[in-house]
Amino acid sequence: MIHLRPKPGLIVLLAGALFPLLLVLGAQKGTGQEKAVRAATAKPAREWTAESHNKTNFPLVGKHRTLTCRECHVSNVFEGTPTDCEVCHWQRRQDDRYGLRLGTRCSDCHSPMSWKKVDPAKWSHETEAGFRLEGVHRTLDCEACHGSVGFAPRPTDCYSCHKSDYQGTREPNHTEADFPTDCQTCHNQRGWSGASFSGHAGFELRGRHASATCSDCHTNGVYAGTPADCAACHLDDYNGTADPDHRAAGFPLDCTECHGNSANGWTGASFIHDFPIQSGKHAGLACSECHRTSDFRSFSCLECHEQTATNNNHRDVTGYAYSSPACYACHPRGTH
Ligand code: HEC
Ligand code: HEC
Ligand code: HEC
Ligand code: HEC
Ligand code: HEC
Ligand code: HEC
Ligand code: HEC
Ligand code: HEC
Ligand code: HEC
Ligand code: HEC
Ligand code: HEC
Ligand code: HEC
Repeated sequence: MIHLRPKPGLIVLLAGALFPLLLVLGAQKGTGQEKAVRAATAKPAREWTAESHNKTNFPLVGKHRTLTCRECHVSNVFEGTPTDCEVCHWQRRQDDRYGLRLGTRCSDCHSPMSWKKVDPAKWSHETEAGFRLEGVHRTLDCEACHGSVGFAPRPTDCYSCHKSDYQGTREPNHTEADFPTDCQTCHNQRGWSGASFSGHAGFELRGRHASATCSDCHTNGVYAGTPADCAACHLDDYNGTADPDHRAAGFPLDCTECHGNSANGWTGASFIHDFPIQSGKHAGLACSECHRTSDFRSFSCLECHEQTATNNNHRDVTGYAYSSPACYACHPRGTH
């Protein structure tokens, strides 16, 4: 076994001798080590393996395990081999794609596993630069946004980089539609298609409205002044009804009165009218049980409340008459 730790005195001596030399050699793109250690005793160790290297201050991990000794121990000089990534990867060989613009301490952001994948725990654009890269932005070269000069802060609002995209839109033409220039109102960084607009303050999109495309409601790319009242878009549906025939029945044009706001479908309508049909003895009856004709202003109580029995029930009641308006006048809540 070889004693691995060089004597402390040697380190100081070596470091002292190496440092200025490295600087000079680094500037000249030299190897950084060979000349400096020529004086030092080169002791190639045959029985050494990648594993036994663990006992140095520089265990071999990742891609480093796959290298030959000579790639790091230039000319088989072992002592005084630099441990600093930058010395081997910048002074000896200019590996940094970004030419030190991100800093000289490679290990702040990289490990010997790969240059490509920067562990987000070590460096993430979101935490370090305050702007999260998503979707398409993740796949871009840094230069696409930063240019080749440096990593100075860039404006973060979408419009400052995508102004020409906005101006070039055809479907819909954003300028004509007078869309806000804050793209994030409708887009994310994943792509321009599949926009969504959450600004329908006065007209929240639910049910079928949520799955409809923008142009179903905003025809011809016109957005401003879109009417929000149901009949503006559903008058044909109203006029086309047969059961019940809304027009003949004189139904109000505010569909929400009976169809609610969910926009899931036209079935299961309910009309909250004064005479209770949601609760009590008359709950769940079909509209036509009382409204025998398409005119919903008229109703009948008599089909169910048969004459003999009803008359018997009112023997002591003054003002009683066997007619629907009379029944409703004395029983407006359907109770006695
Ligand atoms: C990725 C680069 C790299 C590779 C590959 C590598 N080494 Fe090293 N080696 C180093 C570094 C850096 C040191 C200095 C570690 C320290 O200062 O403790 C070192 C130290 C040593 C030392 C101790 C030198 C001294 O000061 O006493 C020996 C011996 C050694 N390596 C042998 C080997 C052998 C044999 C191989 C091939 C099996 C090998 N190394 C592969 C980088 C490497
Ligand atoms: C502040 C963090 C940081 C520092 C310091 C840093 N880098 Fe990087 N480096 C990055 C990031 C981020 C990338 C881009 C990774 C990506 O494409 O997602 C990168 C990419 C690279 C790439 C290109 C990978 C590829 O093929 O796409 C190389 C090579 C590289 N760095 C080498 C170095 C070297 C050598 C050093 C030290 C001299 C260094 N880096 C220092 C953050 C850093
Ligand atoms: C003693 C010199 C030396 C030191 C110190 C050193 N490396 Fe290396 N490293 C090399 C050599 C030589 C290679 C092989 C270069 C090649 O073939 O691309 C290499 C390869 C790599 C690779 C793989 C490159 C590829 O093409 O896939 C990465 C990543 C890497 N080193 C990161 C680091 C990091 C991070 C540090 C600091 C913690 C570091 N290295 C320290 C010499 C060194
Ligand atoms: C889609 C555009 C975009 C891409 C791609 C991009 N950046 Fe940025 N970057 C920005 C924006 C915008 C800022 C400014 C953030 C701020 O100031 O809040 C920034 C800021 C930075 C900063 C901080 C600058 C400073 O001095 O504060 C660094 C460092 C940086 N980016 C590095 C990178 C690296 C490395 C890559 C490639 C992996 C990259 N960026 C890719 C848009 C981008
Ligand atoms: C009010 C919502 C809204 C805003 C705000 C908005 N867009 Fe759009 N954008 C849309 C809609 C809707 C589409 C059509 C999506 C589809 O076809 O799937 C679209 C499509 C696009 C397209 C592709 C269509 C074409 O004709 O090329 C681009 C590019 C685009 N938007 C860029 C932008 C940019 C850049 C901004 C910000 C400066 C922005 N948009 C802001 C709603 C918006
Ligand atoms: C610092 C400049 C910068 C900023 C800020 C920026 N982008 Fe980008 N973005 C780019 C570049 C560069 C590209 C790639 C080239 C291109 O397609 O325009 C891109 C691409 C895109 C794409 C893909 C376009 C396509 O063709 O598929 C979308 C979507 C996008 N950006 C949305 C946004 C949104 C949303 C914001 C605001 C949160 C934003 N960008 C902010 C620079 C920027
Ligand atoms: C079911 C119908 C419907 C759908 C689908 C719909 N909208 Fe709307 N939108 C409206 C109505 C109604 C208004 C007017 C009421 C309001 O301002 O809240 C409106 C208003 C707007 C406005 C404000 C126009 C202005 O200048 O006042 C924008 C922008 C808008 N919609 C964008 C979109 C986008 C983008 C989509 C697709 C992602 C979309 N809308 C899908 C019905 C719809
Ligand atoms: C700006 C146009 C627009 C307005 C305003 C509008 N809708 Fe719609 N509505 C649509 C579109 C488009 C659809 C989906 C296509 C279709 O089924 O007709 C739809 C679908 C529906 C459906 C589902 C129909 C089915 O066949 O399943 C109901 C229910 C509905 N709307 C109710 C309403 C109600 C209630 C209102 C008033 C609060 C309203 N809508 C206002 C455009 C509009
Ligand atoms: C007074 C209550 C009421 C009002 C107001 C009302 N409806 Fe209806 N609607 C009904 C009832 C009850 C049904 C039958 C429900 C069922 O079959 O489950 C119905 C069914 C429908 C049907 C399907 C039946 C058919 O014949 O096609 C459509 C379409 C329809 N309504 C559209 C509308 C539209 C559009 C409006 C607003 C412009 C509207 N309704 C307003 C009560 C109303
Ligand atoms: C148990 C009997 C009964 C049933 C069932 C019933 N109604 Fe009525 N309806 C009445 C009575 C009584 C009135 C008059 C008092 C009032 O307005 O509530 C009325 C009034 C109405 C009116 C008001 C007509 C006008 O004067 O403008 C409409 C519309 C209406 N009903 C729709 C419906 C619909 C839709 C259904 C089925 C969902 C329904 N009704 C079920 C008894 C009934
Ligand atoms: C489709 C059948 C039907 C129609 C139409 C109908 N009812 Fe009834 N009604 C019932 C039934 C069933 C009961 C519970 C049994 C009973 O008390 O006779 C009831 C009970 C009542 C009661 C007693 C409630 C109680 O709490 O004991 C009154 C009052 C009443 N109805 C009034 C009316 C009036 C007013 C109308 C017309 C607007 C009407 N009904 C139309 C089926 C009907
Ligand atoms: C002048 C007012 C008046 C008229 C008109 C009237 N009722 Fe009544 N009804 C009453 C009173 C008061 C009672 C309670 C009698 C009692 O408890 O002895 C009653 C009781 C009832 C009961 C409950 C009987 C029981 O004891 O279970 C029903 C059902 C009923 N009425 C239905 C009708 C129907 C249907 C009509 C129309 C054909 C009608 N009423 C017309 C005043 C009236």
